[in-house]
Amino acid sequence: MRKKIAILGATGSIGKSTLDLIERSPEWFEVVAVTAATNSEALAEIARRTGARLAVVADETRLGDLQARLAGTDCRAAWGEAALVEAAGGQAELVIAAIVGCAGLKPVMAAIEAGRTVALANKEALVTAGELMTDAAARRGATLLPVDSEHNAIFQCLAGSHEDEIARIILTASGGPFRTASANTIDAATPAQAVAHPNWSMGAKISVDSATLMNKGLELIEAHYLFGMPSQRIDILIHPQSVIHSMVEFVDGSVLAQLGSPDMRIPLAYALAWPERMETPAQRLDLADIARLDFERPDLDRFPALRLAREALEAGGAAPIVLNAANEVAVASFLSGEIRFTDISRVVEQALTDALFEAPKSISDVLEIDRATRSRVEALMKDACH
Ligand SMILES: NC(=O)c1ccc[n+]([C@@H]2O[C@H](COP(=O)([O-])OP(=O)(O)OC[C@H]3O[C@@H](n4cnc5c(N)ncnc54)[C@H](OP(=O)(O)O)[C@@H]3O)[C@@H](O)[C@H]2O)c1
Repeated sequence: MRKKIAILGATGSIGKSTLDLIERSPEWFEVVAVTAATNSEALAEIARRTGARLAVVADETRLGDLQARLAGTDCRAAWGEAALVEAAGGQAELVIAAIVGCAGLKPVMAAIEAGRTVALANKEALVTAGELMTDAAARRGATLLPVDSEHNAIFQCLAGSHEDEIARIILTASGGPFRTASANTIDAATPAQAVAHPNWSMGAKISVDSATLMNKGLELIEAHYLFGMPSQRIDILIHPQSVIHSMVEFVDGSVLAQLGSPDMRIPLAYALAWPERMETPAQRLDLADIARLDFERPDLDRFPALRLAREALEAGGAAPIVLNAANEVAVASFLSGEIRFTDISRVVEQALTDALFEAPKSISDVLEIDRATRSRVEALMKDACH
């Protein structure tokens, strides 16, 4: 029996890596649903190639184009949130959650509520609704498999261990393209420089997050929810080569690490084949060739986003939602040339300072706090421009 898969965000960087693996092992997997935001051309091509039965665009204006491109196939074209939720909670046994940003929240929750196994790349969903999601997963018997390379590494290191044996988690971070840059250089960074990650090829938003180190901040919050670990027991370690993807220290002083070349197909393959393993075309690690591995502590002065994320995690309640929403708006403004690179953290800090939100009790609460923060941050940035 082939494993039935839904790929949410099939046209993105994670979506494409997933498809690459699936198409190398067609005897293992059957793609049943694929989704995108607006890219109906790429989505239709993916649906035709994989034989998916459902293809969904988030944007209504792209539906006509999707339908036309899928004419003559067995694939139904649909649009909007309800259809995204249907793709996530429908026939698939394994849902690859690779939508970027808070837009993935409802579909991920739908997959969890349907008791599916969810391979979670969409970290923003867990950052904004971590407790609601882990509670729902426990209630519905859904399994969350981390796809982020760091969390996947931790998941692998934790296999077979008990909670009381774990001393701390050590999340590694490449340090991004500005790791050695001066504060002045960072202040003048352009979008092209910010998305040029030294080790990983990723979508634009996560690349900017890696440059500010907000990505590591989001991952800190993600690790807290995935592994039930308090902030004080999650450390961040800069490791420029991105060979060690993260580590776990146990109470006896042993440290386990997962290593591999920086290729998202490795953690994705782990999630796709779990609880087994499958082959990947990823480059094999040659440690003699790499010769050295470096480590340093993060610089919270040049990269305040990491400090802000830890503060948001420790403040709890709605703070991670505010952090994430403000960051999404600020990153989009930076990418479109409206604000400077260093303004991203300033905007997030301001949003957190002004925030007065109670902890969310439902996904609707999360989305309302997200919406309110976005409009407050947009107003804030408009005021700053005048
Ligand atoms: N890339 C990596 O190596 C990597 C590593 C670890 C974790 N992640 C996480 O994985 C997620 C995806 O990252 P990515 O780099 O693959 O992003 P990406 O290349 O920008 O792709 C994003 C995908 O989501 C879709 N999408 C965007 N906005 C949407 C909306 N409002 N509603 C529905 N679908 C929407 C896009 O469709 P269109 O093509 O139509 O825009 C695309 O399919 C992010 O949460 C990221 O943090 C990524």
